[in-house]
Amino acid sequence: MWIILGCPRGGPGHPLAASVVEGERVGVSQPGVVLKRAEPGHLQSVRPGARQRPSSAEVYVRQWLARELHDGVAQVLTGMVMEIEQVKAEQTGRRGAQEALDSLQASTRNVLASVRQTLLTLRGEPTLGPNLDEWLQALLDRFHAETGIETRLLGADSWPAQLSAHASINLSRIVEEALHNVRLHSGAQLVLVSLSEADGVARLYLRDDGRGRKEVDGPAWQGLGTLGMKERALILGGELRVESGFGDGTAIELRLPVGMLTS
Ligand SMILES: Nc1ncnc2c1ncn2[C@@H]1O[C@H](COP(=O)(O)OP(=O)(O)OP(=O)(O)O)[C@@H](O)[C@H]1O
Ligand SMILES: [Mg+2]
Repeated sequence: MWIILGCPRGGPGHPLAASVVEGERVGVSQPGVVLKRAEPGHLQSVRPGARQRPSSAEVYVRQWLARELHDGVAQVLTGMVMEIEQVKAEQTGRRGAQEALDSLQASTRNVLASVRQTLLTLRGEPTLGPNLDEWLQALLDRFHAETGIETRLLGADSWPAQLSAHASINLSRIVEEALHNVRLHSGAQLVLVSLSEADGVARLYLRDDGRGRKEVDGPAWQGLGTLGMKERALILGGELRVESGFGDGTAIELRLPVGMLTS
């Protein structure tokens, strides 16, 4: 059995740090976390073969990994399956097939980049915070090219250009999931993304002009995507609300302390 002795190499700001600074025991060793074999008598409650209730650290790491796999891998692969279906149905000529392959290659690179980012985080290596407005604009351009849905970005200069790695990974996953939902569920023609800041609160607002949630969804209903977005908002010290009305588009609003963008 192993116990955690210190922080991951990314320091206290590292996404896994919360699981470590508490000095919690974990049932399985996590790469990138400094572990040491427990002294005899240290962990009376942890006997080999005994069925353990997961510690809060383990639950934290599991939830984090589940979000990363949903947002960074499963979500992109779903998009690729849809794209392949579309190409098969359209039976495009050689040129169309070439364009489809280019697009699938770009999506494959995206999945690989996500997997690398997750592995770097698990290993405790620092990850690069993106230059926010360039990253957002590139994401929206790509979304438009793939879906034909128009996009508009407002107020990107009201936020710090360089975010911390911790903020950037959680924010980028929230925006990617929201756009993925627009693509899958909305039938929208336009997506508006707006960034603003007032009284120490940073606000990200993403709205589409699509069909809104189906009535059967009900207010309590949510999938893994919405759950993940809300968890990421909490991790950033903020909250995320979804507004949607049948036939009236869907919006997500994220509000967080502005200091969390860079710490
Ligand atoms: N932009 C949107 N327009 C219309 N309906 C939406 C939109 N976003 C979400 N929904 C509805 O809310 C539901 C929940 O979304 P959520 O992202 O939580 O789960 P999901 O996309 O169905 O699956 P996943 O867990 O893979 O994300 C969707 O199934 C859809 O019915
Ligand atoms: Mg979703």
